[in-house]
Amino acid sequence: MEVILAKTAGFCFGVKRAVDMVYNQIGAENTYTFGPIIHNEEVVEDLKSKGIGVIHSMEEAKSRKPGTIIMRSHGAARKVYEELESLGWNIIDATCPFVKKIHRIVEKESQNGAQIVIIGNENHPEVEGIMGWCESRPVVIDTTEKAFDFECENNKKVCIVSQTTFNYKKFQELVEIIAEKGYDIDVRNTICNATEERQTEARMLAQKADAMIVIGGKNSSNTQKLFEICKDECENTYYIQTLRDLDLNKFSCAGCVGITAGASTPNNIIQEVHTNVRI
Ligand code: F3S
Repeated sequence: MEVILAKTAGFCFGVKRAVDMVYNQIGAENTYTFGPIIHNEEVVEDLKSKGIGVIHSMEEAKSRKPGTIIMRSHGAARKVYEELESLGWNIIDATCPFVKKIHRIVEKESQNGAQIVIIGNENHPEVEGIMGWCESRPVVIDTTEKAFDFECENNKKVCIVSQTTFNYKKFQELVEIIAEKGYDIDVRNTICNATEERQTEARMLAQKADAMIVIGGKNSSNTQKLFEICKDECENTYYIQTLRDLDLNKFSCAGCVGITAGASTPNNIIQEVHTNVRI
């Protein structure tokens, strides 16, 4: 049996970097992450057992004796950093460098007087963070209706950035609508390809595999999406959370088994499945 593990299975560069930064702090006293470092309970529990807890809100940060706090890969608003610092917390910034780059763009361009437009979902923590680095009020657009409604006052230059995980086609469509309004626009495509690359590789793998295993949390929307993509190409696709959910008998007749995993699936879970399917 041939078993192929997708190269892009699991953590992207930014999440891996952030998780590694947290694990590097094990042993340090009074250290927390600001919110769960990733949406994976096993990782959060493992960190807790090793002495790194989670602070869920500014209120909670205020109520504790300040120590070290680690910011997550999707970043946070400038005022969050300022507030934590003023409370006496030492900050370790695990914001993904691709997100940090967007913070710098919007900060600089808004200081220069541009109207910032963020193509993304207003309620996503990454977008909330980006909004919090703008000197003037940004406009967040995620639908064609909002793009048509967009108006820029005072002949300002318009600087358009994107949430890193936004769909590229949709981004282009929304930018075209804004471009037709005749403003002076500066478009920065800040989409990160990690998600798309993972999906493309999963699709290609599922096309040639006799059976496909998709590993990830039950509530992980990106794992669900991976599962759908694979299922479309390969009828024998199985969605599992860990090795425990896997019935290895199902693969006894498969010539080629493909494995992929969602963005918050830790490497040890992926490796455990990979090793056991090969036996
Ligand atoms: Fe991951 Fe950073 Fe891209 S967190 S999805 S590598 S923007």
